[in-house]
Amino acid sequence: MPAFMEPFRIKAVEPIPFPSVAERDAALTEAGHNIFRIPARLITIDMLTDSGTSAMSAAQWSALLSGDESYAGARSFERFEHVVRELTGYPEVLPVHQGRAAERIILHELLGRGDVSVSNTHFDSTRASVEAAGADAVDLPVEYDEATPFGGDIDFDRLRRLLTGDGGARVRCLVLTVTNNANGGQPVSLDNARVVRQICDEHDIPFLLDASRFAENAYLVHHRSPETSGTTVRETAREFFRLADACWASLKKDGIANIGGLIALHDADLAKRCRAKVIETEGFPTYGGLAGRDLDALAQGLLEVTDVDYLRYRAESARWFAGVLAEAGLPVLRPTGCHAVYVDAGRLLPHIPPHQLPATALVNELYRAGAVRTTELGTLVFGRPGTDGATDIPAPRELVRFAIPRRVYTASHLEYVAEVAERVVAKAADLRGYRIVEQDDVMRQFTAILQPVE
Ligand code: F0G
Repeated sequence: MPAFMEPFRIKAVEPIPFPSVAERDAALTEAGHNIFRIPARLITIDMLTDSGTSAMSAAQWSALLSGDESYAGARSFERFEHVVRELTGYPEVLPVHQGRAAERIILHELLGRGDVSVSNTHFDSTRASVEAAGADAVDLPVEYDEATPFGGDIDFDRLRRLLTGDGGARVRCLVLTVTNNANGGQPVSLDNARVVRQICDEHDIPFLLDASRFAENAYLVHHRSPETSGTTVRETAREFFRLADACWASLKKDGIANIGGLIALHDADLAKRCRAKVIETEGFPTYGGLAGRDLDALAQGLLEVTDVDYLRYRAESARWFAGVLAEAGLPVLRPTGCHAVYVDAGRLLPHIPPHQLPATALVNELYRAGAVRTTELGTLVFGRPGTDGATDIPAPRELVRFAIPRRVYTASHLEYVAEVAERVVAKAADLRGYRIVEQDDVMRQFTAILQPVE
């Protein structure tokens, strides 16, 4: 049995569209060459994100029917709270409608103008929340190295230097994002989290976990560090929560459901302040912007997600997929994590300079060649306007992410993606870059209008 064989069978199916070449060309033009603006009915394989795109289990679908839609104190909330407390060890549990609501609520309680949040890498929505609070988001990831099993770690040397330097007193929180989505989906090690705990104690700053992919991180840690033998993946996940002071998560990932998020923590006073914000913007704190049935599906998803057969399949299928993409000629980042395969578009398209968005060029060509939708995580997402107002300060790397929704695509779908990739690689030298003709100030990737460079 291949290690990546799906540990489930399929009970409900959904047809996928096969738009023609002419339809794909027209869709790209109409979308202003921005993949986010292409309607899903014109996508064959959608690897834009693993967020909210998972297939629920039969147990989750049946949990929906037990949803208690009472406005206050629903049984669904009690079930959700019980599972989250058991998993995280945090007594205070606040559901919210999705991850960025959690980020905004807790980060705006902790940060003000001139403060600093430091992280292994803030995800784009996390960075947006930090900046909206008037604070600066500083990313200190370890340097990428294929031989490093824990490429998601934070760099201690740079962290210590920041904390003991002139601006050290401005640092008001430390965020470990597990796994490190913006930086290749690499896991964060337990050792890294332990040292972060120590450093946070020494400097009296709160240690926050962005636990959106806590189970996948725990599996990769389990797999890659011998010290975890004799323990379960769930115990490893719990150890991360124990080390931190508080967490938030987008439950659209490892909650294996289509919507949801949470804040969980020890500090009763901070929880009280966050709860007031939940009431203001999300709803009564026992539903936090969700339906009762969503909370039931999430409670069930949070139990299923640490199943080791499921996680092994998740990690091994990503590893296998990285192999077929590499055979197709794409420069893939290794080692692979679970939720996505990342490709270095900068290496595939060295003739396109960063300000002409090589990662966007690859994303768009994958769509044109086979209606495959991927995400750019390069200068369109992480670039910053330069001081001259016109040219961007490029992102550290020009990555394209092939996100793998949970329990949705089979190996033959992924083989199709590799065939499409092979066709794109064959004409890589002819691809051209893009320039931005319209953009918003915050998270411009969602709305920008682009034009091919002549
Ligand atoms: N934190 C991480 C690490 C994320 O990956 C995301 C979302 C969020 C927070 C925000 O959560 O979407 O529920 O509001 N990531 C998605 C992605 C969008 O495609 O990686 P949200």
